[in-house]
Amino acid sequence: MSQVPFKLENVVPWGRSLQNYCEMFNLGESEFQGKILDCAGGPSSFNGEMTRLGRSVVSCDPIYQFTVDDLDGRIKATYPVILEGLKRNFERFVWQEVETPEQLGEVRLAAMRQFLADLPQGLAEGRYMTSSLPELPFSDATFDLALCAHLLFTYSEQFDFDFHQKAIVELGRVAQEVRIFPLVENFTGERSRHLDPILDWLTQQQYQWTIQPVAYEFQRGGNEMLRVWC
Ligand SMILES: C[S@@+](CC[C@H](N)C(=O)[O-])C[C@H]1O[C@@H](n2cnc3c(N)ncnc32)[C@H](O)[C@@H]1O
Repeated sequence: MSQVPFKLENVVPWGRSLQNYCEMFNLGESEFQGKILDCAGGPSSFNGEMTRLGRSVVSCDPIYQFTVDDLDGRIKATYPVILEGLKRNFERFVWQEVETPEQLGEVRLAAMRQFLADLPQGLAEGRYMTSSLPELPFSDATFDLALCAHLLFTYSEQFDFDFHQKAIVELGRVAQEVRIFPLVENFTGERSRHLDPILDWLTQQQYQWTIQPVAYEFQRGGNEMLRVWC
């Protein structure tokens, strides 16, 4: 899958906020003080919001090759489709802080608008970098923490075990700690088919790892993150 050219028409932009990231990854002041990589950052406002707080975040994602206008157009084109999917699969999600698909859509749109507003300056400052797992353009141990939300394990059907292995090795090469969320698959909400084999492999390779509960739960049962120390 990583060999296939990355096309805008295959992108379904859906980005989360700093508050969501804090809840997905149990982030607090000690994490905020370090250098953070947001891998597969997509149209999230995490980078822009953290930068405004004076924190250090670099995001990487293949979508950063596209222009603001292209991405804005794609967000507008896919938004009704995503909303329809949320309505059709309503019972698969936890509707607590946001009670309806429309409310959630507004929250996500607000985050994506912040991302679009921040993208030109962030590109100029090197805070957004076009790159894709399983190879990242950073030197060893550049970051204290690498975050990866809604890519690994989420897309277990599209990315095989081998890709997950290589991606985790690469994230662990560029950061001292890796956190991955969630550990369930995208449509089914089932525990990822790759999770147990990856945990066995991490143990064999003498990586230290733990699975921890987090405050964020939107996919039912998707309220855990994997932490790996490299
Ligand atoms: C569902 S979005 C998640 C965005 C953000 N992390 C969040 O949780 O709001 C998944 C992102 O993974 C990116 N992606 C797809 N293939 C990738 C790869 N091989 N390496 C890095 N990112 C990739 C997509 O472009 C997309 O922006």
